[in-house]
Amino acid sequence: MSAPTDPGGEQQEHGANLLTEHPALYEARFPDPERLAGRWAEDCLRRHAAGHRVLDIGCGTGRDAAHLSRAGREVIGADLSEAMLDHAREHHPGPTYTRADLRGFDLGRRVCDAVVCLDSALLYCHTNSQLDGFLASCRAALTPGGLLVCEMRNGAYFLGRTDLLDTPTVNTWTYDGSSYRSTTTLTVDRAAQLLRRTRIWETGDGSAPLRQHSAWRLLFPQEIGHLLAAHGFDVLALYDGPGPRTEPAWREGDVPGVASGTADGDRLHLVARLR
Ligand SMILES: C[S@@+](CC[C@H](N)C(=O)[O-])C[C@H]1O[C@@H](n2cnc3c(N)ncnc32)[C@H](O)[C@@H]1O
Repeated sequence: MSAPTDPGGEQQEHGANLLTEHPALYEARFPDPERLAGRWAEDCLRRHAAGHRVLDIGCGTGRDAAHLSRAGREVIGADLSEAMLDHAREHHPGPTYTRADLRGFDLGRRVCDAVVCLDSALLYCHTNSQLDGFLASCRAALTPGGLLVCEMRNGAYFLGRTDLLDTPTVNTWTYDGSSYRSTTTLTVDRAAQLLRRTRIWETGDGSAPLRQHSAWRLLFPQEIGHLLAAHGFDVLALYDGPGPRTEPAWREGDVPGVASGTADGDRLHLVARLR
């Protein structure tokens, strides 16, 4: 596969990036052969006795939604990217897949006992009103006592730390016989509270490099607690690790939050219950 051209110039919006347009490439770049993310989410749901109906919002390729489905849950996987949804239907069957915008969605007459939102998908809510839209939608979709389980980058990590910022990080890998190289630079936009990412893609086939832009909201633990309370949720757990994308990673049997008890690391894990 060659890198597609980018007729619109820089792409700012959620979902508009090479990996979400090419889900198989996404899975190759971010493999999770042990399904740690899905297992971690299932563990949270079990620990907090969630009912069996689950919405995975920002479900991406569907691999976590399918894991939850195999664990016996009735799962809706939702994403904004049609390419992701097509891939999920074909490669990760089990859940019902549907297109939805996490900044404001409506499940119609369907309800769920838990909403999961993994790998920073929540941080595509860039503004407070988008976060309000997400939480109001979750509240409307959830049964009373329903759970919200999220895993994301931690805004607090970037307070006073620059180790992940401003310096390009290069990754190379091979997929389907082609070589890929991505050069990623993260910068902090303080006023907008955004972690901005510029990524340059190069493929071994000689096509022109593709430059793409995206951003995540820098959300802070206190802010999360406040937002959740305002939307009628009690925070049951908010901690930095171990989780599916921490080092060391979460393992079956780890009790969430107990190892560190802090919210200082690069990743944040949230479990909240609707009152
Ligand atoms: C980093 S991926 C995470 C995918 C999946 N949750 C996982 O952990 O593998 C982020 C996903 O969020 C989706 N996304 C971005 N903005 C969205 C929005 N406003 N509403 C729904 N999904 C969105 C993207 O299409 C992408 O599939």
